[in-house]
Amino acid sequence: MNRVGVIGLGMMGLTHLDAWSRRDDVLVTAIADQDTARLSGEAVAEANLEGLAETSFDYDRVKKHTDAYDLINDSAIDIVDICLPTHLHLIFTKAAIDAGKHVLVEKPLARNYHDAMQIVELASTTDKIVMPAQCMRFWPGWSWLKDIVDNKKYGNVLSANFKRMGGHPKGAFYENGDLNGGGLLDIHIHDTDFVQFLFGIPSSVSSKGYKYHTNCVDHVITTYDYDSVPIVIAEGGWWPVDNCPFHMSYTVVFDDAVAMFDISKGSFVTVIERGDKEPRDIEMSNALGYDNEIAYFINCVKNNMQPKIVTTEEAANTILIAEAERDSVESGKPISLKK
Ligand SMILES: NC(=O)c1ccc[n+]([C@@H]2O[C@H](COP(=O)([O-])OP(=O)(O)OC[C@H]3O[C@@H](n4cnc5c(N)ncnc54)[C@H](O)[C@@H]3O)[C@@H](O)[C@H]2O)c1
Repeated sequence: MNRVGVIGLGMMGLTHLDAWSRRDDVLVTAIADQDTARLSGEAVAEANLEGLAETSFDYDRVKKHTDAYDLINDSAIDIVDICLPTHLHLIFTKAAIDAGKHVLVEKPLARNYHDAMQIVELASTTDKIVMPAQCMRFWPGWSWLKDIVDNKKYGNVLSANFKRMGGHPKGAFYENGDLNGGGLLDIHIHDTDFVQFLFGIPSSVSSKGYKYHTNCVDHVITTYDYDSVPIVIAEGGWWPVDNCPFHMSYTVVFDDAVAMFDISKGSFVTVIERGDKEPRDIEMSNALGYDNEIAYFINCVKNNMQPKIVTTEEAANTILIAEAERDSVESGKPISLKK
């Protein structure tokens, strides 16, 4: 059985702890956090989605470390799960790779493209699995969309529109844009990544946005340019008004149908096909994208198979696109991504 150590017990660390705990083929044997209240389970983080980060994890039966390097260098650990603030992803991923561990590392892969490319380089030096946790690629309703786009069930895509807005999370990490990259890099990145997953790297991006909570772009709307798809747009970030509800949706228009997902309505996609009298709701699994992502990661580890659904290189390219979006907001001009 693979033994897992989770580093960083904030909102995402607790979400991952719960996802690991739901499996009977892996065992979390160690946790690390510099904050002893989080390490003991006394302090818990707030979550975007109801029910997340409310862990029933049994803290008493695992090793606890305030120094993450002690967990990484524990020979009894096979998998290191890095749920640390974004600016720390590179150094701890490097340490875990150096220690010969499999690594699951939260999104965004790193604080900037330069750091992300260092992770790509490091991942190429190990035969262990290194996977970025781009959870939307595994989210019911979203993985369905990827299949429908790829197999052209409803024809070509004419327009794709994504929206994701959340409250500005609390804590020192989220206050500091130098660490988190603003709402653009922290939350909108999910849609930047999914746009790349569906359509590849755009030839250019045109973005509008503003800074509000941090010194980085916190709310952005981007048009991604592709020869093959007339309209691709994503809006995302942190609401200036904190008590607005979390929003995650898409509307995709195909030649022969329209598909709509809105998490506030439930776990289904509404499809209206040409000729339909009524919209049809297609039920999706209730599983969380995090559980599916971890199941896929474990399958890669067990079969010694490098991940195909998401690679470190793609996660780095997602940051490249996000940085072009930031540059477009700041310059007021489209930014080319042509090599
Ligand atoms: N996939 C998703 O949907 C999703 C959602 C939220 C956050 N995230 C990502 O997960 C990462 C963590 O976000 P979060 O919301 O959990 O943050 P958080 O601030 O809630 O938690 C971070 C934790 O790391 C600990 N920590 C910080 N520095 C440390 C160090 N040097 N050693 C040990 N512990 C340390 C902090 O004490 C804290 O408990 C970020 O990269 C974020 O972008 C992903």
